[in-house]
Amino acid sequence: MDYDSTTIPAGYDLARRHTPEVLDLWMEAVASFAGEGCIRAVLDLGCGTGRFSEVLASRFAADVVGVDPSAKMLEQARAKTHGSRVRYVRGRGEEIPLRSHSADLVFMSMVFHHFKNPALVARECGRILRDRGLIFLRAGTLEQISSYPYVPFFPGSVPVMERILVANQVVIETFESAGLRTMEVGVLVQQVASTYASYADRIAAGGDSVLAELDPLEFEAGLKALRAHAARIDKARENGPGFEVDDCGVCGNGNVFSDVCDLVLLNKNRDALDRCVTDSVDHSACTNCHVLTK
Ligand SMILES: C[S@@+](CC[C@H](N)C(=O)[O-])C[C@H]1O[C@@H](n2cnc3c(N)ncnc32)[C@H](O)[C@@H]1O
Repeated sequence: MDYDSTTIPAGYDLARRHTPEVLDLWMEAVASFAGEGCIRAVLDLGCGTGRFSEVLASRFAADVVGVDPSAKMLEQARAKTHGSRVRYVRGRGEEIPLRSHSADLVFMSMVFHHFKNPALVARECGRILRDRGLIFLRAGTLEQISSYPYVPFFPGSVPVMERILVANQVVIETFESAGLRTMEVGVLVQQVASTYASYADRIAAGGDSVLAELDPLEFEAGLKALRAHAARIDKARENGPGFEVDDCGVCGNGNVFSDVCDLVLLNKNRDALDRCVTDSVDHSACTNCHVLTK
């Protein structure tokens, strides 16, 4: 998708902003695969408004180059640049504007489905990575479609995602065909809003490229349904008992909140650990992560 021909850039940060806790969750996931001090140069490929670029620079004390084809997304990113460790460059994954062997980490968030030629992007990532460098890729994949919290309200989003997303295995094969080696494939669950009302506000900001493909009337109907659900469920939550965790790792407190149960799969060690988030209502989005090395 050409973001410059859409209104997504203006609403992106409002719609997709992450809390410091969620950003930490992702940074710690990256750090768990990289030795301390090993990451000095980072490429944030498809950086958009720089949602992760600054935080990558500060977490790893690294120099970060954010690359994106969208002038409008980069304009938003540059407007909030604080330090000198981050710079933004216009470019595409298929022709990365960096020297060979110049990065220790390629970070990609929610961009794989936008690549016109993923195989070429994988080769380009291999080219600019130093030996034993890491690729950390966050992506929605076919397997996670049903876990998107907006799906029940926007059923038309399912065929759109089925068209643009690929299966996990396709992501793996794309990078392995370019000579990279998979270290880990996992799912992290992140809290994207603390209430359904705030979740609805994020959706209304219009920063999601899948929902942007829906007919405007369908979008409005979905938003209305989501707001009605918010009015019901957020109120019930105020009055209701807290969450409990049962033995089999499913959380809920009976009936009312079972639709907001949250499951975390931490499988860095390949032991899937099911954990319930017990302290909040979670409108979570499961996001796949792939970690590869050269
Ligand atoms: C959903 S946004 C993700 C932005 C950022 N990574 C994040 O997580 O907030 C997708 C971004 O991918 C960019 N993009 C689209 N095609 C691309 C390509 N071929 N190479 C690199 N980035 C691309 C878009 O311009 C957009 O900024």
